[in-house]
Amino acid sequence: MNKKEMMNNFEKHRPIYHFSSKKGWINDPNGLIYHGGYFHLFYQHYPEGVVHGPMHWGHARSKQLIDWEELPIALYPDEKGTIFSGCIVYDQENTSGLGKETAPLVAVFTQNQEKNGLTRQYQSLAYSTDGGMTFEKYAGNPVLDLGLSDFRDPKVFWYPEEKRWIMLAAVLDSIFIFSSKNLREWKKESIYYTGDLEKNEIWECPDLCLFKTREGIQKWVLIVSQNTLDYKKTGVRYFVGKFDGKKFYEENSEEVLWLDFGRDNYAAATFAGIEGRIVQVGWMNCWAYAQKLPEQGFRGSMTIPRELYLLQTPMGLRLGQMPVEEVKEYLNVYRLSEGTLEMDILLGAFLIDIHNGKGKICLSNKKERFMIDIDFDKQYIVVDRSKCGENLGKEFTETKNRNFHISRQRQILLIIDITSVEIFTAGGEVAGSFQYFSKYPFQTIKVQGGTL
Ligand code: FRU
Repeated sequence: MNKKEMMNNFEKHRPIYHFSSKKGWINDPNGLIYHGGYFHLFYQHYPEGVVHGPMHWGHARSKQLIDWEELPIALYPDEKGTIFSGCIVYDQENTSGLGKETAPLVAVFTQNQEKNGLTRQYQSLAYSTDGGMTFEKYAGNPVLDLGLSDFRDPKVFWYPEEKRWIMLAAVLDSIFIFSSKNLREWKKESIYYTGDLEKNEIWECPDLCLFKTREGIQKWVLIVSQNTLDYKKTGVRYFVGKFDGKKFYEENSEEVLWLDFGRDNYAAATFAGIEGRIVQVGWMNCWAYAQKLPEQGFRGSMTIPRELYLLQTPMGLRLGQMPVEEVKEYLNVYRLSEGTLEMDILLGAFLIDIHNGKGKICLSNKKERFMIDIDFDKQYIVVDRSKCGENLGKEFTETKNRNFHISRQRQILLIIDITSVEIFTAGGEVAGSFQYFSKYPFQTIKVQGGTL
């Protein structure tokens, strides 16, 4: 892309390395699966408008997790409702019987029906026998209906020990766990509930993954997106513990654990079908202001795909994360320490050494700026984006800070892409995703590794 194309791109606020749809609104990533040599990204999509509307599943695929090719819409609303979030599994043994000769990909998703002022949510299926290019809805939909108005975001995975499928779904401030032999008939097994949410505060988009630390400790991690009235308590939260095929048991501290200290990572989901690593993508946005952000015919993007891992820290087990390896080959990586770098447009990956253990990083143009303060000895990081999105409200402009425990590697990695900065530091213990909407592109990055 030449400079002129970049400037045009900037005008449209369209990121280059992050997935965004050609037009319309997007929110949660859905149905993430690696299959047939492609990473498939389905997503909540309203193609006719730039706010949340009657939801569809959009579809994109990539071989590298970064160069996304947008494909035709995968699922359209029908008489049973619009298409809310969910997942896709590869039904290798054709347990569902939906595959005929070919083992199918089965999408499990929420249908949201609004009728006479009442909302009903239930779980439905659609299947694909052409590698996810087209889907047929299951004639027996819905497959799981509890008569509830808040019952959504099924995440399904195969549990080999008991040769059955497990489903997690969010019901207000609880996660319901179900099991099934065939993806069509579901039995309720348990409810996970912490009771620390206020009225009207909810969980959405659950996920449950098995991790192993470098030291060989194996744990299940339950991940939920927490949506609260107090936006400071909104984001992706996780619990480390045990899963016995029926029930999840939390084992970690009293501390509330957040996956990302930025404001812009929500509804994060992990890929099915990847062996040996756990890769997650989030919606790089926040409901508090998502529908107010500047747009030019499209609105919303996804985070950079990240590899998640379980880390032993002095405070116990924590999730760590870094951008997936594939990203490094694609992005220009600039290595910086003390000093100033000027570019036409700040874009790419910036690996910054904070020699003194204490640093200040400032991205700016003549009028606007985005600032990061980090102190590895005191173990904290502060982000201030109040000077690059003034009209977007306090949820957007208030500073964010985070303490951390791992301070050996005095480095910080930034991924900067037209309207966002993603921060990775403290050996992956700290990740922060932040959008910014400056009037003009940032052109300068200044690093002070000395006194603040
Ligand atoms: C999360 C969410 C989900 C729901 C979807 C609707 O952002 O609210 O719970 O399925 O978005 O678009």
